[in-house]
Amino acid sequence: MWHLLVSSVIFISILLFVSQETFGTENKTWASTILEKFQQHDYKMKFERYEVVSYNKRFLSKFEAVTFKYNRSLAVVNVSWVYITDIGNEFEIVVQGYKFASNEYRLAPARFEINFCDGYKKNIIGIRNTIRCGNFTGCPMITNAPVTICNWSPDESLFPPMVPDGDYMLEMEGMLRSVQLFVVRSYGTVYRPIFKQHDYKLEFERIELVSFNKQYVRRFDVVTFKYNRTSAVINATWINTVDIKDNLDLVIQAYKFASNEYRLFPIRFSLNFCDAYQKNLIGAQTTKRCGNLAGCPILKNVTIRVCNWSPDPSQFPPMIPNGRYMVEFQAMFRSIEMFVGRGYAMEEDTKEALPVEESNTMKRWKKEQTDYHE
Ligand SMILES: *[C@@H]1O[C@H](CO)[C@@H](O)[C@H](O)[C@H]1NC(C)=O
Ligand SMILES: *[C@@H]1O[C@H](CO)[C@@H](O)[C@H](O)[C@H]1NC(C)=O
Ligand SMILES: *[C@@H]1O[C@H](CO)[C@@H](O)[C@H](O)[C@H]1NC(C)=O
Ligand SMILES: *[C@@H]1O[C@H](CO)[C@@H](O)[C@H](O)[C@H]1NC(C)=O
Ligand SMILES: *[C@@H]1O[C@H](CO)[C@@H](O)[C@H](O)[C@H]1NC(C)=O
Ligand SMILES: *[C@@H]1O[C@H](CO)[C@@H](O)[C@H](O)[C@H]1NC(C)=O
Ligand SMILES: *[C@@H]1O[C@H](CO)[C@@H](O)[C@H](O)[C@H]1NC(C)=O
Repeated sequence: MWHLLVSSVIFISILLFVSQETFGTENKTWASTILEKFQQHDYKMKFERYEVVSYNKRFLSKFEAVTFKYNRSLAVVNVSWVYITDIGNEFEIVVQGYKFASNEYRLAPARFEINFCDGYKKNIIGIRNTIRCGNFTGCPMITNAPVTICNWSPDESLFPPMVPDGDYMLEMEGMLRSVQLFVVRSYGTVYRPIFKQHDYKLEFERIELVSFNKQYVRRFDVVTFKYNRTSAVINATWINTVDIKDNLDLVIQAYKFASNEYRLFPIRFSLNFCDAYQKNLIGAQTTKRCGNLAGCPILKNVTIRVCNWSPDPSQFPPMIPNGRYMVEFQAMFRSIEMFVGRGYAMEEDTKEALPVEESNTMKRWKKEQTDYHE
């Protein structure tokens, strides 16, 4: 399980926030509402094939898919089916992700469920492009007549951002209440020439520690200060009473500044602390330059010092809308809250667009610095 987490930390991040774990199975509209918002330009997805594994002959008399090369570089699929029973609008697709590792597709901790008709309406992963060829026009499903879609392939630009490179399989199970209608699998490869973003510059503002659990943490101080005229950095001192290995998870929730306050922004995910460090997420590994934090394990009773550190914007996800953000991270040690912190940053373009007067965040920050030194 561990290697799987290592290989798919970001994939988890995307899919966790549409998973039952976080939001409950009952709200399928929510999942497609999120999926519908995806836009990515940082990786390429090569669609390989689509296969019908099985279908329920009580509901369908035919369900076939054939994948073929549309041209030298593009694979497309023709699908045809015949429903012999009316299934209405309320059927679900349960999606389970698998990632190829050590010669097999292994379960990725990514599972979500959407209402098909709703997802279709919202054109998730470009599914509505199916109307371009064939005679499928959406819901409700027609009964007792063959329906075809042709020359279709998923639209990579509508996939979730930040999916790591690799070979994936998505198994999709059609469910009418508790009855299985069909099982299909879709295979594809995610690749990118480079994984870096250069489309925006982020200005780090500060990190604050909101609280920590004295059962696990003996000391935790974080102070933000100006390193030079333009860069803010942090110093932190951290002593735990427990060893941190693979047992610390971060639950991350983003907030975007609008109308004078930070408002919930629909990015929420969970990742493993040590794994994220190892993957150099947000440039975490630059803590090695100053202080003694160099990765996991982090042993109990050892004073961890981080100095002159700030996140590296080039290691942030691409395509984040302009604005100012607050990210709240809740660290869970074996499912019990260990500490809660907040990081603030804004995009440089946003800063230029702001009035010349100081932002409230900056004022508050300065006041805290003054208080700190008094
Ligand atoms: C599901 O989520 C959507 C979008 O957040 C919300 O508008 C709707 O009220 C939710 N439905 C239920 C049953 O919770
Ligand atoms: C293959 O077809 C797609 C879709 O029409 C097109 O965008 C792409 O450029 C084509 N590729 C080649 C190599 O002709
Ligand atoms: C859809 O197209 C197929 C193949 O061209 C045809 O056999 C079928 O009758 C059409 N179905 C409908 C509902 O028009
Ligand atoms: C896919 O469907 C299109 C349109 O009906 C047809 O021209 C093409 O021959 C089909 N390709 C295969 C491999 O079935
Ligand atoms: C501030 O320090 C950062 C990090 O060393 C450096 O990249 C930047 O150029 C410095 N800015 C100024 C104005 O000295
Ligand atoms: C850690 O430090 C505390 C307090 O200084 C001490 O009571 C405890 O024995 C230490 N534990 C270890 C494993 O060194
Ligand atoms: C941050 O840490 C560095 C290295 O230990 C130290 O020189 C500096 O004074 C610290 N700054 C603040 C504001 O604590």
